[in-house]
Amino acid sequence: MSNPSATRSAELTTYPVIASAKLQALLRKLHELSETQEKSWSQKLFYLMRLVRFMASGETWSAMADNHMRDKFVALEEDKCQFIYLLARAMRARNVVEAGSSFGVSTIYLALAVGQNVQHELQRYPGVGGKVIATEKETSKAAKAREYWKEAGNEVEPWIELREGDLLETLRVEEGMPEEIDLLLLDIWTPLALPTLKLLQPRLKHGAVVITDNVGVAKFLYRDFLAYVRNSENGFRTLKLPFKGGLECSVFLA
Ligand SMILES: C[S@@+](CC[C@H](N)C(=O)[O-])C[C@H]1O[C@@H](n2cnc3c(N)ncnc32)[C@H](O)[C@@H]1O
Repeated sequence: MSNPSATRSAELTTYPVIASAKLQALLRKLHELSETQEKSWSQKLFYLMRLVRFMASGETWSAMADNHMRDKFVALEEDKCQFIYLLARAMRARNVVEAGSSFGVSTIYLALAVGQNVQHELQRYPGVGGKVIATEKETSKAAKAREYWKEAGNEVEPWIELREGDLLETLRVEEGMPEEIDLLLLDIWTPLALPTLKLLQPRLKHGAVVITDNVGVAKFLYRDFLAYVRNSENGFRTLKLPFKGGLECSVFLA
């Protein structure tokens, strides 16, 4: 016999992320803002011009591109964010690094997962901790991210350490860096993906997961990175997941 209250609660749990209604509303707003920017003609033209420049001269990024992107969210799409949240929960990830935080949208999901994982582990292992190390080189973006994290509140804000500046420098700072990283999100300009991975690889725990965005749509720009993670001699087993643009999921099994 069916149980009506079970059906009701099943209907209520279709949202994959455990978050307060207030936080869900904030996330929806931030994704909408980002999607509106990404759908604009000027943004489409920008991506087309990047491709043309790469084809013509091999240019992968430029100061002009940085200027253009300074007020853009370029947030990870909502389904990818929900996936990394669930992945982090499944892995019980407590030490996460995010390369490229922008206005901090994906960071919110990661911090939410880390916070919930820590609370869960604390029931069995008193004293355990965890955090997301977020990174952003643009001061104005970092300031906006902090505002959104504050708005997100206690579910999120306490679990983030933001390192401002060039991540190839800030992630070298030993203080506060976990000995073992559970999960690394590479949502960064493509030329930085491989140097960032190599910088952090010595800290990846066995079974750590590295998620890299847009490896399908930008496969030429990711050529070196993909050659590296797809060569099992480097310690990874890897798979492109069929999210929009392609999302590489690499597991460190050295
Ligand atoms: C695709 S966006 C990140 C989006 C973010 N993960 C989200 O979902 O909201 C990439 C960000 O990396 C930042 N960035 C680029 N080069 C960087 C560097 N060398 N160090 C730190 N941040 C950098 C850019 O300013 C940009 O905001």
